[in-house]
Amino acid sequence: MLPQSMLRTCHLLVLMLCVSAIEDFDWTKNDHGSFYYGVFPTGFSWGAGGSAYQTEGAWNVDGKGMSIWDAFAHKKGKIFLNDTGDFSCEGYHKVKDDISLMKDMNLKHYRFSISWPRILPTGIKNENINEKGIRYYDDLINKLLENKITPIVTLYHWDLPQILEEKYRGWQNASMVNLFNDFANLCFERFGNRVRHWITFNNPWSIAVEGYETGEHAPGLKLRGVGAYKAAHHIIKAHAKVWHTYDTQWRNKQKGLVGISLSGDWGEPVDISNQRDIEAAERYVQFYMGWFATPLFNGDYPQVMKDYIGRKSAQQGLGASRLPVFTAQEKSYIRGTCDFLGIGHFTTRYITQKNYPSGRGNSYFTDRDLAELVDPRWPDPGSEWLYSVPWGFRRLLNFVKKQYGNPMIYVTENGVSEKMMCTDLCDDWRMQYFKDYINEMLKAIKDGVNIKAYTAWSLLDKFEWDEGYSERFGLYYVDFRDKNKPRYPKASVQYYKSIISSNGFPNQRELESWKGKAIETCSSSNQLLAADPLISHMGMVTEIVVPTMCTLSILLSAVFLMFLLRRRL
Ligand code: NOJ
Repeated sequence: MLPQSMLRTCHLLVLMLCVSAIEDFDWTKNDHGSFYYGVFPTGFSWGAGGSAYQTEGAWNVDGKGMSIWDAFAHKKGKIFLNDTGDFSCEGYHKVKDDISLMKDMNLKHYRFSISWPRILPTGIKNENINEKGIRYYDDLINKLLENKITPIVTLYHWDLPQILEEKYRGWQNASMVNLFNDFANLCFERFGNRVRHWITFNNPWSIAVEGYETGEHAPGLKLRGVGAYKAAHHIIKAHAKVWHTYDTQWRNKQKGLVGISLSGDWGEPVDISNQRDIEAAERYVQFYMGWFATPLFNGDYPQVMKDYIGRKSAQQGLGASRLPVFTAQEKSYIRGTCDFLGIGHFTTRYITQKNYPSGRGNSYFTDRDLAELVDPRWPDPGSEWLYSVPWGFRRLLNFVKKQYGNPMIYVTENGVSEKMMCTDLCDDWRMQYFKDYINEMLKAIKDGVNIKAYTAWSLLDKFEWDEGYSERFGLYYVDFRDKNKPRYPKASVQYYKSIISSNGFPNQRELESWKGKAIETCSSSNQLLAADPLISHMGMVTEIVVPTMCTLSILLSAVFLMFLLRRRL
């Protein structure tokens, strides 16, 4: 997600001095270590989520077209171990099974995405509508509703039809705005009588930065300093257009809501008494979530982005800023196009001021003039970028309340991963993460933040983009080596169930019993998995046998070489 080399270097810097001095908001009456017992407002919605390319599999089944992720993952060297989402969790064939897992957890909502090329194989509405693809989503929506689970539907979770990438260069091209609007309109037409919650884009920051700046994600373009801003510009316009389409053509009849899901790490100043660090941390958040939220709520990019990118572009001798400009008409068209704000949040960074002279080449990252740091004491059980820093969540939520006029918030993603080889279903670290992050969300509600729903990310272990299957975010463990992709509950399933059934954290006594109860559920299935000879062998092969064999062969070759040399002498 972030430049790893930069993070790794910074990793080494321990930030003792700030950790004890971070409580600066007056709305945080509890210090950040304390636990808050209490329950959520009645009607609060608990759910879990996933996305099409990450879970469906069935990449070329029933008339589906290719997406940029199909194409990207099929190229060698793009994805960890060259894995693909071709089969993934086989969610396409397991709708009934997965809904019974949700039902068992008492979920009130399930967040999933519609694959654009599954229903429009050429990406274009007038060309070919794939009725089999429509039927799949019809069935999923109907079954969810039969089980009293509300569908929250994302229209774009990164899987652009490949043909649109080839013809137009995807989000680099303004024509994507109308094409996406046509696709969205089709979804409103076919599914809108049953779906009330629409998310236009999932995490546009990733689409722009990882797809068009660093190239770590599909379509893999490295248009540094320009490509991400351009993609974001078209995405924001596309979002606004879809919101207006819904508003004028469907809202009266369908009575639904259209929002967007933005991701955002929290950025905390390294030294809270240093104005330059305070401003750098603010910039970090503005360049991240603010890049998209500010236009949608206020009509234009954050002032600090316009200033920094504009100044650097001028220093580079460019005639105009690399950050595109909205016309006055566009600004008023875009402003106010969010019925709710979806927030995907996982982690936090410490931020300090750092100058990047414009001569050093331009990029989104150097435009911000800051450095990111982490506290090595923060737990990081899985993904390299994901440190558990629960208090950052409360801060981000309060920031959103203050900056954007207390919008209605749906938490659309929050969770933690473990490593691929981890077959331990007793996932202590996930129970702790959920407990602490959900508790900070409860504190934020007490602060007056208007949060309506929480989506645990994710229901299942699944394809994790460029990381392949090496990071497991699921409440359910998926055995990817088995063709049937069986699901096994981790202990956190039971733990999350307890939170859901109590609608929060009623009291200390009750809470103390939850973990024991959860661990009981995982120990028997855990033994089952641990006894799986293939899994334990694979673990042994990669972790012990391979390194030992390598060392032995190096040693043997050295001995053999010495023997040969001696004979020559
Ligand atoms: C955000 C993405 O939206 C989601 O698809 C992914 O699984 C999580 N980050 C974790 O990497």
